[in-house]
Amino acid sequence: MTVLVTGGAGYIGSHTCLELLQDEQDVLVLDNYVNSSKESLNRVMDITGRTLRVIEGDIRDRALLDQIFSKNDIESVVHFAGLKAVGESTQIPLDYFENNVSGTVTLLQAMKDAGVFNFVFSSSATVYGDPHTVPIVETFPLSVTNPYGRTKLMVEDICRDLAASDSRWKIALLRYFNPAGAHSSGRIGEQPNGIPNNLVPYISQVAIGQREFLSVFGDDYDTPDGTGVRDYLHVVDLAIGHLKALEKTRVQEGCVAYNLGTGQGYSVLDMVKAFEKAADRPIPYKITTRRPGDIACCYADPTFAEAELNWKAERGLEEMMADSWRWQSQNPNGYDPA
Ligand code: NAD
Ligand code: WQD
Repeated sequence: MTVLVTGGAGYIGSHTCLELLQDEQDVLVLDNYVNSSKESLNRVMDITGRTLRVIEGDIRDRALLDQIFSKNDIESVVHFAGLKAVGESTQIPLDYFENNVSGTVTLLQAMKDAGVFNFVFSSSATVYGDPHTVPIVETFPLSVTNPYGRTKLMVEDICRDLAASDSRWKIALLRYFNPAGAHSSGRIGEQPNGIPNNLVPYISQVAIGQREFLSVFGDDYDTPDGTGVRDYLHVVDLAIGHLKALEKTRVQEGCVAYNLGTGQGYSVLDMVKAFEKAADRPIPYKITTRRPGDIACCYADPTFAEAELNWKAERGLEEMMADSWRWQSQNPNGYDPA
């Protein structure tokens, strides 16, 4: 019985493949490497001492998907593949709809025709838009503020319609809060493409001297220190959440959404201080204007995932920052040779 992992060479996918291999599951990855490197999965195999199979290809390639499903005994699909840059999605929205929405429809059609109905999807806390209050519970109203977010909400809606149409579907929609950190080996982590959009990769590059200072996007929010508050979640905890969700989809019919977060919010300045401590060096920063589209505060109520999936984030901020720093300092150019 094989788990097909789309986008398995990426940041969250590679950490999830590592946990799947450690759990002795049989893993087949499909990735087109549009935002990743083959080296991540080589390292996953090296760390675990186990092998997985990798197919270079695209989730939009229906013939390839049919071939993959017919040649392998696939039981479940964990679907990470997609484009994820919010700013870019406002510039090239069609690419986002084609990759994230059409690509997922093609994948779901191939699954249906192959009789594979267990599906774990990478959704995002972005589907809550600007929440009216925190912590965020799964039953909050859904809305989006950018094309990337819309692709996540559209796929969620598609999954809900699908599960309503046919009770064989068993779908977990995992709404990630803010993944950060890296595997404790320091050998796999996040490799941002170009200038990092996200906070922790940006701070990491300042710490290593690749960027001069961090721009803190606004200090006039209605938060304790005025900077934005988020629920940063260790990527290894997040990866383990996928194994728990997979277990659940093996038994529970329907389509269910779960928040994967810690329940704890940290401000931008909290993150700067924690990274300074982990890396034992100052992180220069400047307060600048707000980033358009940002919200003040976003953190999860994770009790539903704990009750239903028996999952809880175990790793705190200190470990997250120490692991980010280990990855960054040991791999200043990510997976690329120096
Ligand atoms: P990532 O870019 O590192 O990984 C995505 C992977 O999918 C990459 O390896 C990429 O090459 C691959 N891919 C993209 N389009 C493909 C296609 N058409 N066919 C085959 N492979 C394709 O991103 P990540 O941070 O690991 O995120 C994984 C998933 O989680 C994404 O769907 C993302 O939207 C979602 N997500 C990420 C975050 C975050 O902050 N990192 C938060 C919430 C949700
Ligand atoms: C965190 C905080 C910024 C960079 C995004 C997506 C979301 C999800 C995760 C995929 C905010 C501040 C950031 C910088 C800063 N991705 N910041 N200077 O915006 O919560 O979420 O990534 O699904 O959909 O929107 O994460 O890491 O970009 O920002 O001050 O250089 O750090 O303003 O308060 P965000 P982030």
